[in-house]
Amino acid sequence: MKFDVLTLFPAFFESPLQAGVLGKALEKQLFHMAIHNLRGWAEAPHFVVDDAPYGGGGGMVMKPEPIRRALDAIRREAPRSRLLLMTPQGRAFRQRDAVGLSREEGLILLCGRYEGIDERVRAWVDDEYSIGDYVLTGGEYAALVIIDAVARLLPGVLGNELSAGEDSFGDGLLEYPHYTRPAEFDGIRVPEVLQSGNHAEIARWRRRERLRRTLERRPELLDEAALSTGDRRLLAELRNRPEEKKE
Ligand code: ADE
Repeated sequence: MKFDVLTLFPAFFESPLQAGVLGKALEKQLFHMAIHNLRGWAEAPHFVVDDAPYGGGGGMVMKPEPIRRALDAIRREAPRSRLLLMTPQGRAFRQRDAVGLSREEGLILLCGRYEGIDERVRAWVDDEYSIGDYVLTGGEYAALVIIDAVARLLPGVLGNELSAGEDSFGDGLLEYPHYTRPAEFDGIRVPEVLQSGNHAEIARWRRRERLRRTLERRPELLDEAALSTGDRRLLAELRNRPEEKKE
């Protein structure tokens, strides 16, 4: 997988992509990254990338020509990559999008800045994504979020191959609670079942806690979650015993 990022602020990506899990994966060349400075495709001598909006009003709009030249150049090296535009007007980015995108050969992430991008650019993109219903100063934040969510699904990126499988949202449910030593802290004991060594019991407890958490915090996720008959029975129990829902 190759990520090509087109941005006015390449420095933005330096430290997040050096640190932690993604930094290590990049070192091991488990995926590839190229950060392209959009200004490099603007015209000398002023290298202008934005202009006033037609129709008046505040703010500046990113011009289409440098973006077109940059994309043409990037596409020559990555003809089959999917082109994604980061914008608050896009479709809400979800885990299933990350899963789908992780199967692509490459992704080009176009980061908007200023008031927006000339509308004609939108005709060239494959998908428009928003990372939430709020407005950021630029698409760079969204691009990093998407890169992280996709890259961690690529083979070998997470040391432990199991780790991505039980993620929150993997099957539409939130994750179960985690504990490590000590067995008691601040007067709160780790649930006995987790110390029992009984793996079947532990699996049952975890499933139940996932259902409970999702019911409490994000009940709307249950409509789309992959639920078995047993899950539905547990959910009915949890719904009938609201006092047990409290943590
Ligand atoms: N650019 C500005 N805000 C954004 C958002 N919420 N998602 C994606 N790109 C953005």
